[in-house]
Amino acid sequence: MRVAMIGTGYVGLVSGTCFSEFGHSVTCVDKNPDRINSLLRGEIPIFEPGLDDLVLRNVKAGRLSFTMDIKAAVANADAVFIGVGTPSRRGDGEADLSYVYAAAKEIAEALTHYTLIVTKSTVPVGTGREVERIIRETRPDAEFEVASNPEFLREGAAIEDFMRPDRVVCGAGSDRARELLRALYRPLYINETPILFTTLETAELIKYAGNAFLATKITFINEIADLCEKVNVNVQDVARGIGLDGRIGGKFLHAGPGYGGSCFPKDTNALAATGRKFDAPLSIVETVIDVNDKRKGRMAEKVVAACGGSVKGKTIAVLGLTFKPETDDMRDSPSLEIVPALQSAGATIRAFDPEGMHEAKKLFKDIVWCDDGYETATGADVLVIITEWNQFRALDMEKLKTLLRAPVMVDLRNIYKPAEMKQAGFRYYSVGRPP
Ligand code: NAD
Ligand code: UGA
Repeated sequence: MRVAMIGTGYVGLVSGTCFSEFGHSVTCVDKNPDRINSLLRGEIPIFEPGLDDLVLRNVKAGRLSFTMDIKAAVANADAVFIGVGTPSRRGDGEADLSYVYAAAKEIAEALTHYTLIVTKSTVPVGTGREVERIIRETRPDAEFEVASNPEFLREGAAIEDFMRPDRVVCGAGSDRARELLRALYRPLYINETPILFTTLETAELIKYAGNAFLATKITFINEIADLCEKVNVNVQDVARGIGLDGRIGGKFLHAGPGYGGSCFPKDTNALAATGRKFDAPLSIVETVIDVNDKRKGRMAEKVVAACGGSVKGKTIAVLGLTFKPETDDMRDSPSLEIVPALQSAGATIRAFDPEGMHEAKKLFKDIVWCDDGYETATGADVLVIITEWNQFRALDMEKLKTLLRAPVMVDLRNIYKPAEMKQAGFRYYSVGRPP
């Protein structure tokens, strides 16, 4: 099948590449010339493990190409995916659908034969119908249908998630559209991955409900972690104890500095806004948003407390800035709140992130940038782990002690064991665990 992917960001590039790996002929389109030019040179504009090899292999096989020419890509496609951004709109938290609607209009102008237009971007209930209306209005003569196929991949594990998903959700209104989607996902279908066919609106809501549920799960364990700190209980034991109940499940129960990233924050906000719009208030989701927002500020206070109540004039070594490991994505990362709060409290920040530095340098001011964990620790009064990159999991504590001014660590991801850190001579603070 011939596929056009409109929007070649984290989702568009991964999905387009994986569709080409399935054997389809895929053209990825983007408006950003830097992005397309770097892909044409064989350079991958984002960090996602395994993506570079997969892109190069499929480009070489002639199944994957990149262009800014949306007209040609759409004219040659059986299915056109919309994978553009849907960021939070300032003020009301609703999803900004201007990129989706602009893409719909451009697609409409390029249609030459029956084409299935599929929203892969995360979009609120009713967006697919609006895309349909825009295309119909722009091109009353065009033969097309609109379907919804939300994406559930996680950054850092995106290829595995796309190739081996728990399920695929397709909101489609006709047998023809369903057949097309089934053919696109044929390799998964054959492997017995559940493919759920629903209405357009149902597929749209499944995506938001899923993300909001996961954000709620994280926020729940984060609040339990706060209680654990007060009652001398280890949150990891609690998480394991409840997670072994199959009805609860052990995943997404890692306490930390609060969820971040390009999706949970914006999607919980957009879902809450949809609830308000339809007079069906989602008070749990509203509370999750509020609790998570406040949590990030509280993590800075935790560092201040570890430094004896003030960080004025102190130097803080920060390891990890991205919202999670194995990505260079800084969008809504907890570090964006924690680091400036510490700077406002008078601290000097030394920092390092394995893949996020390029982006981070645009977002932070007055940071002493370092090349690895040990250089970051040199001369610092405290070491703070914000993101659990693997290379921070086995630091040489003896070496760290010689580099730090004082052996103090605040581990916001619980990657070390309190007892071991105590034995190593550290004052060690983590999340929801007795010291
Ligand atoms: P992104 O910002 O990384 O990429 C979007 C791309 O679309 C940009 O490169 C932009 O230049 C391009 N674009 C915008 N308008 C265009 C147009 N008219 N024609 C061609 N290109 C255009 O965004 P992302 O993180 O890939 O997210 C895309 C969508 O997928 C969002 O709705 C998001 O919620 C959803 N999603 C993201 C993830 C993730 O892990 N990032 C996972 C699941 C779903
Ligand atoms: C998330 C979802 O997991 C994907 O299914 C979804 O497709 C995607 O959003 C999206 O819609 O864009 P992603 O944001 O890439 O994926 O990463 P996650 O692994 O879900 O982590 C999100 C945030 O939650 C990170 O800040 C992470 O550190 C935090 N988290 C996650 C925790 O604090 N504890 C956990 O147990 C899990």
